[in-house]
Parts: sequence; C-alpha cells; structure tokens
Amino acid sequence: MSPPQSDYPVIAGTDISRCVLDQFRVAIAVQLSHSLGISLSACYEGIDVGKKGVDFTVAVPRFRLKSKPQELAARAAKEFIPNEYISSVEAAGIFLHFQVKTSTLSRLVLSQIYELSQPSPNAPHGTYGQNLEASGKKVVIEFSSPNIAKPFHAGHLRSTIIGTFLANVYETCGAHVIRMNYLGDWGKQFGLLAVGFERYGSEEKLSENAIMHLFDVYVRVNQDVKAEAASGEQAPTDEKAKDVFRAMEDGDANTLALWKRFRDLSIKAYEQAYRRLNVHFDVYAGESLVTSENIQDAIKALRAKDLLVEKRKSESVTHKDYNRAEPETTEDDIDASPPEGELGEKPAWAVDLNAWKLGKPVVQKPDGTTIYMVRDIAGAIQRYEEYKFDKMIYVIGDQQDLHVAQFFKILSLMEVPFASQLEHVNFGRVNGMSTRNGEVKFLDQILDTAKEAMLDQMNKNQEKMSQIEDPDRTADEIGITCVKIQDMSAKRIISYDFDWQRMTSFEGDTGAYLQYQHVRLCSVARKVAPSVILRNDPTLIDTSLLTEPKAHELVMLLARYPDVVRTALKNSEPNTIASYCFKLSHIVSSAWEILIVKDQEIELAQARLLLFTCAKSVLSSAMRLLSLSPLEHM
Ligand code: ARG
Repeated sequence: MSPPQSDYPVIAGTDISRCVLDQFRVAIAVQLSHSLGISLSACYEGIDVGKKGVDFTVAVPRFRLKSKPQELAARAAKEFIPNEYISSVEAAGIFLHFQVKTSTLSRLVLSQIYELSQPSPNAPHGTYGQNLEASGKKVVIEFSSPNIAKPFHAGHLRSTIIGTFLANVYETCGAHVIRMNYLGDWGKQFGLLAVGFERYGSEEKLSENAIMHLFDVYVRVNQDVKAEAASGEQAPTDEKAKDVFRAMEDGDANTLALWKRFRDLSIKAYEQAYRRLNVHFDVYAGESLVTSENIQDAIKALRAKDLLVEKRKSESVTHKDYNRAEPETTEDDIDASPPEGELGEKPAWAVDLNAWKLGKPVVQKPDGTTIYMVRDIAGAIQRYEEYKFDKMIYVIGDQQDLHVAQFFKILSLMEVPFASQLEHVNFGRVNGMSTRNGEVKFLDQILDTAKEAMLDQMNKNQEKMSQIEDPDRTADEIGITCVKIQDMSAKRIISYDFDWQRMTSFEGDTGAYLQYQHVRLCSVARKVAPSVILRNDPTLIDTSLLTEPKAHELVMLLARYPDVVRTALKNSEPNTIASYCFKLSHIVSSAWEILIVKDQEIELAQARLLLFTCAKSVLSSAMRLLSLSPLEHM
C-alpha cells in the first residue's frame, strides 16, 4: 500500500507517511489559515489535541491577531467547510473545536499502523512511531555509571532505566546513539582495595561473584582503616593504600594488572545483570580511562585562560564544601578529611564560579592527585575528540546538579566548541530501597526481590500457574517491568519511595497491570481463531463499521503515538510514554465489552480485530521504547 495521498500543500515538519494525524491537522490549517489571514505553518503549529472527546482544539488568542479572538473564532467556524477529514467545527468562546471524520480516521490510521508494524530485517518490530527528528545526529548518552566495589544504589538504577529509555527514543527518532557507561573505577579507594585484597581476597570468590567479593573486601579493609584511626596511633593501612594508588597513577604494572582484573570481572558481572534488564552499552568508559595527558592538557588550558585561582583551607568553609558535589563518587574514602594543614599550606587550584552562583570548585588538589571534577572536564574533551558528537547527555541524579553545572560552566569558560551540546538529564531520589534482609546493595538483589514477589502472586493461582510455560522467566520479566514502571510513573525529577507491595500489585498503574493488558490483547486473536482470522490486507477490511465513540477514541489515541514519541524526545521524560501506555490500556480495557469480536458478523469482527491488533502493536512498541519486553502469555 502506498502512503496516504493528499492534494494538500506540504508543511515543514509534517510527515503523513509516518503520522497520519499530520494530514488532519493540515486539513484544518488549510482552511483556518485562510479565515484568520495567517501563514499555513503558524496555523498548523497552533493546532492542539483536544480534551474530553474533542479531537483537535485551536486557542485563537495564541496567534495574537488584531481582532477579538471570540469574533475570529465565530467567523472561522462559520466559514469552515467540512470535508473528508474534518466532519465538524464548533466555536466555543476563544476556542475552536474540531471533530475528525471517523471513517477516514479509522481507514487511514489503521492501515498505516498495520503497514508500519510489519517486521523487516532492519526493524523486527516495525517502524510505527519512528521519525527523522534526530536523523544524522550522533548522540552520546552516559548513564548507569556505578562504582566498582561499591553498592549499586537506587541512583544508579534510575540512571540505568532513564538512560536506556533516552537511548531508545533517540534511536527511534533516527539518531546514531552511543550508550556509554562511565564506571567509577579510579581514585584512592582502589589503592585501598588492592591492600584489602592482599589481606582478605580469594581468587575463588572473585571468579564466582566479583562484585560481591570486591565489596566485601572493601568493607573489611575500611574497617581496618577506621580501627586504626580510632586508636589514634599510626594509620599504616591508610598510608599503604595511598602509596599503592600513587603507584597506580604513576603506571605501576603490577598494581595496574590487579586493578584491571577487578575491573574486567566487575564489568562481566554487570553485563549479566544489564542483560537481564534489557540494557546494553556500546562503551564501558570509566574515570580510569580519562588519560593523565588529557587531564594535564585541561589544567594547562584552564591556566592559559587564566581561570585557575588558589583555594586555601581557611577559605573553603569546611571540607564538606570542598567536596560537596561528590555524594557517591569514588573519592576520598580513605581520608574523609585531609590532614590538618594540607590545604592550608599548599593551596588547591579552583575555578571561581561565584559570578554564576556556582561556588569555587576545586579542580586540582594540593598533592597533585586527580579528582572527580577534573576527570569530568578532561573526559568531556576526550569524548568529543573521539566521537565528535552532536549532543552528549549525562543521566545523573539531582544530588550532583551542582557538580554538573560546575563542570559544564567550566567547559564553557574554556570555550570548548561543544559546550552548548552538553545536556544534563537529572532525576530525583528514591527512598527506602531495601528488602526484608535490609538495604539492597546490588542490582541482582533488587531484581531477585521483585521476581520473588511476582512468584508469590502467581502461586496464588495454581491453575493459571500450571499453564505458564516458564514461570521463572515470566516472573522475572514481570518483576523487572514493575521496577521500571514504578520508576517511570511520575516526572523524573520527583522523588519516590521504593514500595515493593504497591509496585508489584496487579491493580493500579503498575508494570504487572501493563503486561497483563498486553497479554490480553495478544489473546484476542487466539480466542476468536479459527472462525476469525485477520485478513492480511487491511484495505480489504471495512473500517467504516467502527462507528462507536469508543472505537473513535481508541483509533485517535493510536494515531497520536508518533506525536507522543516526539514529545518524549523533546522533554526527555519516560513518563510521557509510560502515561501513554496506561491511557491506552485503560481505553482498551473499557473497549472489550463494547467492541466484541467473538460471534459477530464476519465483516464487523474483521474490523474490530484489526483495531485490537493495531492496539497491540502500538502498546508493544511503546513498551519496548521503555525497554520492557512485552509478554505474550502469562
Ligand atoms: N560514578 C558516579 C557516582 O556513582 C556517577 C558518574 C556520573 N557521571 C559523570 N560523568 N560524573 O556518583
């Protein structure tokens, strides 16, 4: 089937071969722009989706015309001639409300969705919802970024979920995306870890579960440090760790080999957990991979631009202030506060950002060791050299808002060519991510807990349970969906409480509910076969039989999916898509009793089955965009 044809002029930014709704908006704009005496594209921009059963609404005041909006609206409504796209228009004060012609809508939308949902080698799930908004753009997205030998906390989980979503959206909009994990794999604590491994390490445990074992070793050796500090005498462990890290920074082969093994094994373990989450990375970058050459160059550039100022301990209010933008970074575990006098005698180097209310962040410590801040500055430059990206997005929690604002500002003061291409996508905190056994420390624990909660639920219905082919995998998938959906249920900046009970319920807008609705849509076709089998040419189906308001509402929502994807690209909000999924699920679930397929006259059954088939395709696309794996059975 060829894309819908139209005699209408083409308006920039519209693409009826991907979004049929554009066609209806053009149909409105063509007449309305004439009545109002404005340009076609200005008029087009002013057409919004309507509320409460209204298909499209135009708020006349937005065009800022000389005459009274009420009068203009009344005149435009009177002049408008209904056609095959728009069946009626009504002036309501300063607004114009348009209704779309149901038969044209259903015919064009359903055939487009059906057509674009067919799998192809390049697009195994079809292309409906895709657009070219970011086509030709290279976008680096940095997300997840856990710290080796430390817990994978809720902030890392959120970054992983949101970052994967963004990567999917950018790809859907035509961008070339590089998914980057910036591991916290450098800093003084790696010296400590090496010392700890010598004392408490076990090769066997390391190969069994690197993440857990390194964490254990780290905790134990930290206890040693604390005990020594408390005794008030010497701190040999601490001293030794510093020496080891210094040796690492100087390139000592033995320690580096050990460190590399820790890193490699940790990545292997992370990859497993990420796979379970349907997440992957193109690059495992890390703080360790920002080269000392690049760091030195960045410092030089800062100095050349006259941006470096001294910062003494006396002026840094507290050590906390000195380090305040580094909540869960890899720094300074060994000596939470530097020895008295260290900052006092030898100054640190900082950049004065007080003019922008961003404080005076330190970029180089008095002892010359590198820190988080300068690694981010040099790291961005290094990445630009490597990727020449059009955009680089950092998905980092709002606890580091200040840190990110600081290094973005510093880069812009350095006048790097890509300063305006950096974007911080932030998010709020999660409280209380713990299980019955206490605080959750690793990604797998979170996923296991969700899965167990699902298995508990499923076990309540033994009959159903016995029909499920692979209960373990199904429970895992639903559990993961629940964790992700909970995270995307509100705007990302909003903090939330991790709530196992509510999250894993089948009631309310949860992941389990969403999977259930998808499964239900999959089962319609199974349930009505063999008496109804969908014709594979939708043009042979009489969609004009879909006359019910519920059908109109559902088709209209399906038609809006490409718009919703574009909105999500603009606002970087997973919630935009998650809300859409729930809206769609709610309409579908209220449609079952009205748009019955079973035992209907064959033409009507075909039309309704086509509608539900399209709804299933769109719901599954939207779920995939959220990185979920839609289930067919459960
Ligand atoms: N590893 C850091 C942490 O856990 C997050 C890294 C964020 N990315 C960055 N470029 N600073 O706090």
